[in-house]
Amino acid sequence: METILSGMRPTGNIHLGNYFGALINFIKLQQTHRCFFFIADYHSLTTHPNPKDLHQSVKTILSQYLACGLDPQKSTIYIQSSLPEVTELYMYLNMIAYLGELERVTSFKDKVRQNPNNVNAGLLTYPTLMASDILIHKANYVPVGKDQAQHLEMTRTFAQRFNKMYNVEYFPLPQAYNFKNELLKVPGLDGSGKMGKSLGEANAIFLVDSDTAIEKKISRAKTDSGPKETNEKKSVEIENLFSLMSLVSSKETIDYFEEKYNDCSIRYGDMKKQLAKDMISFISPIREKIFEIQNNDTYLSDAIKQGEEKARESARKTIREVREIIGFKSF
Ligand code: ADP
Ligand code: TRP
Repeated sequence: METILSGMRPTGNIHLGNYFGALINFIKLQQTHRCFFFIADYHSLTTHPNPKDLHQSVKTILSQYLACGLDPQKSTIYIQSSLPEVTELYMYLNMIAYLGELERVTSFKDKVRQNPNNVNAGLLTYPTLMASDILIHKANYVPVGKDQAQHLEMTRTFAQRFNKMYNVEYFPLPQAYNFKNELLKVPGLDGSGKMGKSLGEANAIFLVDSDTAIEKKISRAKTDSGPKETNEKKSVEIENLFSLMSLVSSKETIDYFEEKYNDCSIRYGDMKKQLAKDMISFISPIREKIFEIQNNDTYLSDAIKQGEEKARESARKTIREVREIIGFKSF
């Protein structure tokens, strides 16, 4: 059976981009596949979180994932830091990763630009840690958004290099996965690029946002001065509004506003009201569930305990085999 794996760093709350770009695919796949899901708390150390906050951040993100439909009966759910095997594989992979290729990774270059005073080795080797997360369970598919495509490509490079170096066919080469085939990028509300939590509160719609917050954010989304001629090409801002609508509204609603846009009678205010209404219908039940789960410590710890055992068993097996391939032997 094919193995699916995904993970998320415990930083902030889940937004629509996380949900539709990555999580929804995982949730569908957990019905039919061997699935692993983990909270990437080792990865979050690159930014030196306060020890007092770390556990709470893990708990927040875990509750949100469970509320979205991550199922502890179907998937193996665990916290990355409870799997020390991951760090051992990370070290082996660092032996075969080249400095040049790590320095060329876009996310690394972005971080260097954003935080020139915190260019640590953990940041540089983020892709080898991520590769270790994936290869430790020999995953075949990784449901992630478009921004992670390069990290996945590197995972394939490391897996292939390991196989070649030791002349084995041990690690499968993992692929990114989206049901719609194309990897998705959910746009933000500010008219620029993607929805992301580091791009300002107003850019992203979070699953914990109140109805009023959702209405307010959508009403302030960037638009343009309106189409001047029939079937005019949409500006990026308007394209983004339609993309968001395609996630939560019915086909009839979308067709209605497409038609209004194409014959120049569209009123963006009306479109935003409808989008806010549909967004609230989608988000509010998830939000209620999040609030319920985050106060249920027994449910959370049961979910994690079940997962941890299964995850360790799988990770120990891989490490045992990898050590053998590398040539370590006991006396
Ligand atoms: P953020 O960009 O908000 O910090 P993360 O980097 O923690 O989000 O991403 C967690 C997961 O959500 C990853 O799989 C990532 O590809 C996906 N993701 C994040 N933002 C988007 C987006 N706007 N569109 C599609 N997928 C996204
Ligand atoms: N890099 C991912 C992100 O920022 C998080 C992550 C770490 C991950 N290890 C992973 C995702 C392994 C999928 C598989 O979103």
